[in-house]
Amino acid sequence: YKRVTVKSLVDMKKNGERISMLTAYDYSMAKIIDDANVDVILVGDSASNVMAGHETTLPITLDQMIYHASSVIRAINRCLVVVDIPFGSYQSDPKEALRSAIRIMKESGAHAIKVEGGIEIKDSVKRILNAGIPVMGHLGLTPQSIYKFGTYTVRAKEEEEAKKLKEDALLLQKLGCFAIVLEKIPAKLAKEVAESLTIPVIGIGAGGDVDGQVLVIHDLLGMTKEFNPRFLRRYMNLYEEMGTAISNYVDDVKTKDFPNEEEQY
Ligand code: KIV
Ligand code: NA
Repeated sequence: YKRVTVKSLVDMKKNGERISMLTAYDYSMAKIIDDANVDVILVGDSASNVMAGHETTLPITLDQMIYHASSVIRAINRCLVVVDIPFGSYQSDPKEALRSAIRIMKESGAHAIKVEGGIEIKDSVKRILNAGIPVMGHLGLTPQSIYKFGTYTVRAKEEEEAKKLKEDALLLQKLGCFAIVLEKIPAKLAKEVAESLTIPVIGIGAGGDVDGQVLVIHDLLGMTKEFNPRFLRRYMNLYEEMGTAISNYVDDVKTKDFPNEEEQY
């Protein structure tokens, strides 16, 4: 296996090779994703939604993120594994941010961390990078700030917010981040940012003119039903397929078809 590193991602951008990134939160799913040659696994705090059933990403804890991340790490041979620092574990001061980042790296074996925000978290990003921990940025729709935005609609449509996003992206690159996620912003703005940076820009709802794409694995597989943003392409309808399989099992148990003669000792 040729392991993906933060350096290979920058090389991929240079060579015009698109970067594929998917979320994973557990061992079994991570194994399938790693075997399918995905470049980057994100242990996203979207675990708060898809794993734990919360409405937002805010409630998930550092300990819970470390549990998900260590499960993913045990499965992988090739992928670069990036872990979201959860809400409340890095915003109060740079020392706390570094402590949280170190816990993720030490206790899970992850390769990098991801933070949401720009200038507001500049000192924390610096401190984490100084410790030798690779940092991925995340701008645009940043779900940890959902109560500030009020809605999950497209961000940076107005000039002022677009200008700040561009400045934040440049700042994150200057500080030493190895990549940036841009979530749910106009494709034209994302293209502009991707072209102005040397580090890779990975989009979700940010159009095709960026250096890579990321999706939540449950969305890609169609395991979620209610989440239907325009940017989502579903490659399966697992919610229905799994439902059918499980109903068939129930029928077989009820009708005493399962287990049969060969399925017992
Ligand atoms: O938590 C997550 O899944 C993410 C991606 C959508 C970028 O941050
Ligand atoms: Na996230």
